[in-house]
Amino acid sequence: MSPKIQAPRGTFDVLGDDALRRTALEAHARRILERAGYARIETPTFEATELFARGVGESTDVVQKEMYTLDEGPSESLTLRPEGTAPVCRAYLEHGMHKLPQPVKLWYLSSFYRRERPQAGRYRQFTQIGVEAIGSDDPGVDAEVILLLAELLEAVGARGLRLRVSSLGTPATRETYRRDLQDYLREHAAQLSEEVRNRIDLNPLRAFDADHEGTKRVMAGAPLLIDHLTEEDREHFSHVCALLDVAGVAYEVDPTLVRGLDYYTRTVFEMTSDALGAQSGVGGGGRYDGLMEVIGGPPTPGMGWAAGVERILLSSPPPPVAPAPLDLYVAYAAPEYRKAAFRLAADARRAGHAARLELGGRSLKGQLKQADRAGARFVAILGEEGTSLKDMESGEQKTVEADTVMHHIRGGKAL
Ligand code: HAM
Repeated sequence: MSPKIQAPRGTFDVLGDDALRRTALEAHARRILERAGYARIETPTFEATELFARGVGESTDVVQKEMYTLDEGPSESLTLRPEGTAPVCRAYLEHGMHKLPQPVKLWYLSSFYRRERPQAGRYRQFTQIGVEAIGSDDPGVDAEVILLLAELLEAVGARGLRLRVSSLGTPATRETYRRDLQDYLREHAAQLSEEVRNRIDLNPLRAFDADHEGTKRVMAGAPLLIDHLTEEDREHFSHVCALLDVAGVAYEVDPTLVRGLDYYTRTVFEMTSDALGAQSGVGGGGRYDGLMEVIGGPPTPGMGWAAGVERILLSSPPPPVAPAPLDLYVAYAAPEYRKAAFRLAADARRAGHAARLELGGRSLKGQLKQADRAGARFVAILGEEGTSLKDMESGEQKTVEADTVMHHIRGGKAL
């Protein structure tokens, strides 16, 4: 025998109840997001590498070490999408969506790819549900977008949720603050972890994320961006908070909140669940008012989030999964009745019934056992005596004219 081939590390197959739970989650997302005016968008699985290098940011872990990049020769480099915001912004520009009423509200459910160290809740291929509202910087957009994530997670019963929000201000404020923070980190360099020390120039904000004890002590006294916001940004953020209050969304303002992608401006937020282990982030996002320019478009504000489908399912209790109802199971006594059986099952489905045909080469006894296991309401048995119909609830069985089967099973009433 040849050696078995297994799924790559950090990937998984979706089977059985897990597939049903995903379908149910997608239905919740569609209902909640489409009711709020979000239209579905699907972008390609791969994009020009440049889109992520510029959009997500050269200094991020995602771009530095996690992208699956396909070499297409000297003039073209493609990358499996590690996230959905830059692709949606690219599509907005490419399709002239600025001509539509703003904001343009879009949602997606797609697979994403990051070369991460696999562990519980962290995969190399994962699925996100995400929303992007592009074309308005109204704080109402920020609050609505956050509220939609809260609603979705509530609808699926996600446990132990905590919502943290903050504001990063404008790029100019951030730049000034970044220099202040770099000065502060350099003053305390001796107490910092080596990793943080090495990244003072590239990404000093990530120091707030560190687990290293010495770094944590230093960061407790570090200057906070939220104290350096411009008057306008402060006002924007207080409007967002006021609207979240009105909507009854529970949240904490966490000035140390850091997101792993570079495009954020003003509002940022993250939803965690204490039902998850180390990878506690269920979803997160924020405003990205400068992203469109970075990828070659005119200044256009945007706001959105993405939530990991796998993490949502890990953080919520499995709902009772009801088996799909089966109106009719078509069995046959001998191979010569196979064609008629095939036709009856096809006719029943065409008439709108859930109908299945024996396809496993079982004996009649085996077929009846199978019908029972599948929860069939009726079984049609085709054989020498014509067609007989068995009511699986009452156990009653009678011979019927072949073309009246549909009439008998309609409405699921007893024979
Ligand atoms: P992100 O925080 O990188 O944001 O990812 C969002 C969510 O995707 C995470 O909270 C997590 O649930 C899930 N996720 C990320 N990486 C993995 C992984 N390796 N395995 C399993 N789940 C994962 C973004 O991607 C932004 N595009 C969100 C956004 C939209 N910001 C504005 N608009």
